This record gives sequence, C-alpha cells and structure tokens, in this order.
Amino acid sequence: PRPILLTRHGESLYNVRGRIGGDTAISETGELYAKKLANFVEKRLKNEKAASIWTSTLQRTILTASPIAGFPKIQWRALDEINAGVCDGMTYEEIKKNMPEEYESRKKDKLRYRYPRGESYLDVIQRLEPVIIELERQRAPVVVVSHQAVLRALYAYFADRPLSEIPHIEMLKETKFIKAPL
Ligand code: G3H
Repeated sequence: PRPILLTRHGESLYNVRGRIGGDTAISETGELYAKKLANFVEKRLKNEKAASIWTSTLQRTILTASPIAGFPKIQWRALDEINAGVCDGMTYEEIKKNMPEEYESRKKDKLRYRYPRGESYLDVIQRLEPVIIELERQRAPVVVVSHQAVLRALYAYFADRPLSEIPHIEMLKETKFIKAPL
C-alpha cells in the first residue's frame, strides 16, 4: 500500500509567540525542520516518481515544503488550519481572560464548538471530504504538510479513530523531530 505521510508545518512566528492562526512565515527552527523534512522525503521517496506534496494555502506549510525538490506541490484551501474567527491571532491566555464564556464552551465540547465567525472541528472534518476522496484515489505516495486540527482529523480517518477523540489526539511537535534522526 502506498504511504500517506502527515506532518505539521515547521514552527511559525505566531507559534513562537503562542498565538493561534494567522498567516506568518516560519522561524529559524521551522526552517531547520523544513530542511530535515526535505532530506527525509527525498530519501524515502527516491524511487517514487509519481509522489506529490500537498500543502495548505498558508505560508507556514508552503515554506515548510519549499526545500523538498523533485515532486509536484499542490495547495489545498481545505488543508488550511481551523479558522479561529474573532480569536485568530490571540493567545489561549487572552481568550481565557477576554472571552471566558467562549473559552469555557470550547473546553466543554471542543468537537462541536465553533469560534465566532470561524469554524468548529466538525466544520473542518466536513471540508476535508474532497481531500480524503482524492487521497483514497492516489496510487502514489502523498506527503501532506498541514496544521494540527486538520491533521488530527485526517489521522483519525485513516487510523479509524472515533469522532469524539479527534480534537484531543496528540500531535508530536515537529521540533521534537529536529533532534531525533528522521
Ligand atoms: O491554531 C490552532 C491549533 O493548531 C489547534 O489546536 O484545536 O488544540 O486549539 P487546538
């Protein structure tokens, strides 16, 4: 069976400041990860001429994939991070302090909670349907460079995990891989 490789983007400038969402570039640590990832992918998919690299339309995934040479890259809006609506650009602390009711509702039901003017995990799961159909159709390996909420949903689909677990699936921080040999 052909592999589907899932990875988060390298650390973004908003990640460094604990802010959610946005569309910032990646940090130096993020760039280091991007290089490591390129190395890994080029080695791992050396004989896979038809493989492709899928990113979101946000800078942090495009920049993370950019050092990977030799494979076509496709941008999908459906792979963009969960839209945090009015909370976009805030830290979790700021949300807790300035919008305590929102913070509590999300904590109570993270799967169904929809950010004002934004999305819920259920919304994300729904918009991923065309991506999943296309992934199922692929005969060659695909590397998906995306975001935490989206990757939780994709992983749950392929690993057959229940809906209720999706918002809580642990995603390894990509910075852990910088130290480990990929
Ligand atoms: O910026 C958004 C996060 O990657 C999503 O994480 O759903 O656990 O808040 P969360």
